[in-house]
Amino acid sequence: MNDSAPAAAASAAAAHSASLSFRPRFDIGAARIDCGHEPRVDTHEAADQHASWPVLDYSECEPTEDQAAINRWLASADLRGRDILHVGTGNSSVARLLAGTARRIESVTVARNEWQHGNALKLRDYRVHLLNKHSQAFAEQFEAASFDAILDNNLASFGCCQRHVERYFETLVRLLKPDGFVLTHWLGMQWTLDIGVDDVEPVWRLDAGKLRAIASAYGLAVERQDELFFLRRARGAAAVARS
Ligand SMILES: C[S@@+](CC[C@H](N)C(=O)[O-])C[C@H]1O[C@@H](n2cnc3c(N)ncnc32)[C@H](O)[C@@H]1O
Repeated sequence: MNDSAPAAAASAAAAHSASLSFRPRFDIGAARIDCGHEPRVDTHEAADQHASWPVLDYSECEPTEDQAAINRWLASADLRGRDILHVGTGNSSVARLLAGTARRIESVTVARNEWQHGNALKLRDYRVHLLNKHSQAFAEQFEAASFDAILDNNLASFGCCQRHVERYFETLVRLLKPDGFVLTHWLGMQWTLDIGVDDVEPVWRLDAGKLRAIASAYGLAVERQDELFFLRRARGAAAVARS
């Protein structure tokens, strides 16, 4: 046994016991409660390689329709001096739109090309992180209350299981400043990975009712503006969000 073996065994034991003690916070009908694997950057790589069109790597693609709609809203909003987290980097359209206006823009992606492309742009106060948003590493990447706006047009589209989707929502709530918001879009809510490899349970295709059920489990209120959905801390819900 080498020196790191006891630490690895202890960490595996801790993960196992966390998994055993997991009690879902909300129920929208998911059957896969715990996939049993720590989410990694390459979790969906097999799906990406299987597909004949881009699934994960949008570094060379125009923004999707839903991302473009979010960007139109961003272009009309006053985000001067704000801290932005963009989940699902794509071709860094958000950073190209907001660099020099927002105080900083951080982005996360599982696509290596998006990570390289985004960082190579050398935009002011912009950094891309190669991280799975469902991972513990992402949960620990940023300080609590770091962001005014968190953008994710595919909130649950790549959810491996209830436990890790819940971890993601917990992280989002932790990262939001008190008046911050999460912004998503109807089209991306409706889409899940469904190509025959590593498919996501269809239950994670969200509608307004499911989004409200999830949000309320974290003390968030949902406000709809046409096809955009904003999640903000519900008044008096801070205690729920922290519990
Ligand atoms: C279809 S592309 C969309 C890119 C961009 N948001 C747009 O709509 O134009 C999906 C994006 O989600 C990211 N992604 C998928 N699963 C992820 C995960 N578990 N953690 C972090 N990013 C993920 C991919 O890396 C990619 O950036």
